[in-house]
Amino acid sequence: MDLIAGAERADEMKATAKDFASLTLDERGLCDLELLAVGGFSPLKSFMGKADYERVVGEMRLADGTLWPLPVTLPVTPGDGVAEGKPLALRDVYENLLGFLHVQEIFPYDKEAEARHAYGTLDAKHPSVAALQRQPGYYASGRLEVIRIPPHYDFVELRRSPVQLRAHFHALGWSQIVAFQTRNPLHRAHEELTKRAAQQIGGGLLIHPVVGVTKPGDVDHFTRVRCYRALVDNYYKSGSVVLSLLPLAMRMAGPREVLLHAIIRRNYGCTHFIVGRDHAGPGKDSTGKPFYQPYAAQESMAKHQGEIGMQMVDFKQMVFLPEENRYCPNDEVPPGAKTADISGTEVREKYLAKGLQLPEWFSRPAVAEILAEMNPPKFRQGVTIWFTGLSGSGKSTVAHATIERMAEYGRNCSLLDGDEIRTHLSKGLGFSKEDRDTNIRRVGYVAGMVTQHGGTTLCSVISPYRAIRDEARKMSKGNFIEVYCSTPLEVCEQRDVKGMYSKARAALASGKPMGFTGVDDPYEPPLNPEVTLDTSKLSVQECVDLIIDKLLELGYVLPHGHIVE
Ligand code: ADX
Repeated sequence: MDLIAGAERADEMKATAKDFASLTLDERGLCDLELLAVGGFSPLKSFMGKADYERVVGEMRLADGTLWPLPVTLPVTPGDGVAEGKPLALRDVYENLLGFLHVQEIFPYDKEAEARHAYGTLDAKHPSVAALQRQPGYYASGRLEVIRIPPHYDFVELRRSPVQLRAHFHALGWSQIVAFQTRNPLHRAHEELTKRAAQQIGGGLLIHPVVGVTKPGDVDHFTRVRCYRALVDNYYKSGSVVLSLLPLAMRMAGPREVLLHAIIRRNYGCTHFIVGRDHAGPGKDSTGKPFYQPYAAQESMAKHQGEIGMQMVDFKQMVFLPEENRYCPNDEVPPGAKTADISGTEVREKYLAKGLQLPEWFSRPAVAEILAEMNPPKFRQGVTIWFTGLSGSGKSTVAHATIERMAEYGRNCSLLDGDEIRTHLSKGLGFSKEDRDTNIRRVGYVAGMVTQHGGTTLCSVISPYRAIRDEARKMSKGNFIEVYCSTPLEVCEQRDVKGMYSKARAALASGKPMGFTGVDDPYEPPLNPEVTLDTSKLSVQECVDLIIDKLLELGYVLPHGHIVE
């Protein structure tokens, strides 16, 4: 791998890069490229060739015999300029040129063998097995020329390379350093075990969270890093801990992955590595059994720590002793003592999903607050209220009235009204099925964006087709109330507020149907609307009451006088 620092060379390469085949790296490719470039994966210098790859999968060793637990490979589809002997430009999704792989070898590989050996399973519930199934069937390798390390704009001051971190440790006068790997928010159990580990080795502590790819469904790294900061700044002795971020794509490969983690931390200047319960575990397989035994990673590390040159600091599961108000490893629990713990699933389902703060014995308040904020309760979340129904069925009238009533509950709403939308957002679109679908997709898209950012949008659009309304529901991530204005056609036609029905009937009679919903174009009623309103039978006031009742029931608004704790 060559890291070309000269801007001149970078410009020159950019100019010629368009002559070569390009590969857009996915998240894992970007992380791997970065760690190869900065020396985090040392002694690896590039994506693996066949000899290294096959021996790593089969025996956890590179071709030269060096211990290496997992493949670091670049999946490609050969052809279209992706060929042996040709440079392959590597880019991110924004088209930034990051480097070239001077391809020396393209080889097919056995996905099943990789899954079985490297991850110990063929079950696609394992995220790395699922990734294997999706990716192309060839790997490319060769000399890696890195022009630019994938750019990051978040937490820049916390992203230290191995050279920078080693220099930092040197400046602190640290020679014994224990690293802590994590992909989760840190609770008091982790605080306890990291402090114990540092004390045990009589050295410094590196909190080294993964901010690349982790397990799908994990708390995003922005939120986690805010938690780590709050913890490090407030609950560790100043000067005892360093927080730095690691752009690793985890493979969730338990006993093999722990070795990779240790090798990486050795490269970043550490001497010791913490391994607790179920290290890098992907949870349970599709039959409900854990993929790996809870202490399989510790056994693996015990076997190989000497060769890696890192010493393991192992911990059994940390549990809380409520009667003594302290944490301890579960193999040190005094006989008969009561213990308490909250599992990862309980954290997610019982607390975070409900916007509840975790108890103080489990999490520091500063951390609990950040996590609770991340999953606000329904009344602080955005919502789309989607009015569908025939022209003249009362959608806009009820929507306007609802906006006024919603303000009573502190919800300010935006309205996307069908007619208005066609004057700007969907200007130029007609009334063919295709154009109608496009129009509704645009409304759904905008409403979805607003909803995901905590806003409230009312949409008043005929939206005659069920499938597109269902798409809109998905775009709002389910925070979606479908209000079906079921007013019968005869009533709508009698009202004929805009004179459209008589126009449509006349057009139809003259043999030039205009495709007007209800007259000569279909309307597909919702199958399970949250609210149904027949405005020929209900007053506007009653309609609004029904909508508010539904919002109260679902928790999007709180009853008057309710005190938020
Ligand atoms: S991991 O995928 O990065 O291993 P996590 O961030 O949950 O997941 O764990 C980080 C490290 O802390 C691992 O070494 C894990 O074994 C350890 N660990 C997590 N929770 C506990 C606990 N309650 N008791 C002991 N060790 C734990």
